[in-house]
Amino acid sequence: MAKLTVSDLDVKDKKVLMRVDFNVPVKDGVIGDDNRIVAALPTIKYIIEHDGKAILFSHLGRVKTEDDKKALTMRPVAQRLSDLLGKPVTFVPATRGKQLEDAIADMKDGDVLLFENTRFEDLDGKKESGNNTELGQYWASLGDEFVNDAFGTAHREHASNVGIATAMKAENKPVAAGFLMEKEIKFLGNAVDNPKHPFVAILGGAKVSDKIGVIDHLLDKADKVIIGGGMTYTFYAAKGLKIGNSLVEKDKIELAKQILEKAGDKIVLPTDNVVAEKFDNDVPSKVVEGDIPDGYMALDIGPKSVKAFEDVLKDAKTVVWNGPMGVFEMSNYAKGTLEVGKFLGTLTDATTIVGGGDSTAAVKQLGVGDKLTHISTGGGASLEYLEGKTLPGIAAISDK
Ligand code: 3PG
Repeated sequence: MAKLTVSDLDVKDKKVLMRVDFNVPVKDGVIGDDNRIVAALPTIKYIIEHDGKAILFSHLGRVKTEDDKKALTMRPVAQRLSDLLGKPVTFVPATRGKQLEDAIADMKDGDVLLFENTRFEDLDGKKESGNNTELGQYWASLGDEFVNDAFGTAHREHASNVGIATAMKAENKPVAAGFLMEKEIKFLGNAVDNPKHPFVAILGGAKVSDKIGVIDHLLDKADKVIIGGGMTYTFYAAKGLKIGNSLVEKDKIELAKQILEKAGDKIVLPTDNVVAEKFDNDVPSKVVEGDIPDGYMALDIGPKSVKAFEDVLKDAKTVVWNGPMGVFEMSNYAKGTLEVGKFLGTLTDATTIVGGGDSTAAVKQLGVGDKLTHISTGGGASLEYLEGKTLPGIAAISDK
């Protein structure tokens, strides 16, 4: 059933609590990639342009010690948000208490406030990540309506998404999705549940164990599942190919065999690979077909595999891509991932959806992001969505 969205709410004069996913890379107070902040702007603007008071909150990183607080404050995020909105954003360096309550009481219609990292509450008995009831109720008490736009966090059951939603609903206050959440559900949901065929999934990354749920679910839905990245060599081992020193999950070889049996000819594996003697960007590398020679490890897919993947992709009407084809962070082994990203940018007749850090970084580096249908802001969340799992953060939003 469709979820209630922010445009169903009357936000005028209302204190609108808004969970965002501003879990962005920050180093020494400098934000590396503000994509998640930019992606939340439509909902924030909607609230303030309709004379609501936008009270924002998010987690940032994982807070384990008092020392983590300095590096993981939301202060730089508030500044970036203010720059993007072109108006002041009040930053409150607290997650509860008088300072926060007074700042909210002082807000005028159209104002924006961001309070401190919700995971600071984890220092006091994991209250945020443990979905502490009292904390969810406290945050719910601060506003009139709740909008959840944090798709990237939807796979977590935390006080700031599920706890607060539960408490709001108990008080008959509305719980709605923001525009970003709505968009993510629409694109990822349609791709998996109602795809135009041929539907091709491209799954990469190091471990079979991380992707097994997605592979399994998508084998039932997709026409082809292309596999690349480190997990390829567990599949190679399952097929009886030699893997040299390549990454392998020995305890998953049997599972990989079962997947290959179930898949028939649906799974497309690389046939050639870039190999080197060391996990190092600066050692000589070469392309080999089939078996990986003794003493070598495979670090990227080779040119014949790229061509074979393109042949599968060229007629696709729906493509979902998650995970790199090689060691993307090393420039000499990034080519396979970049070639796949480049080719996706040419598929203008297809719905193309990308999720996951390295795949997203690749399409951005190539400048093809605007040629794709949707780049998900969710890493783990998009993966769990593609597995067909119910995400707690989404389940807690009211139905229309
Ligand atoms: C993410 O970046 O995937 C989300 O913000 C969730 O973060 P987490 O893995 O620290 O819960």
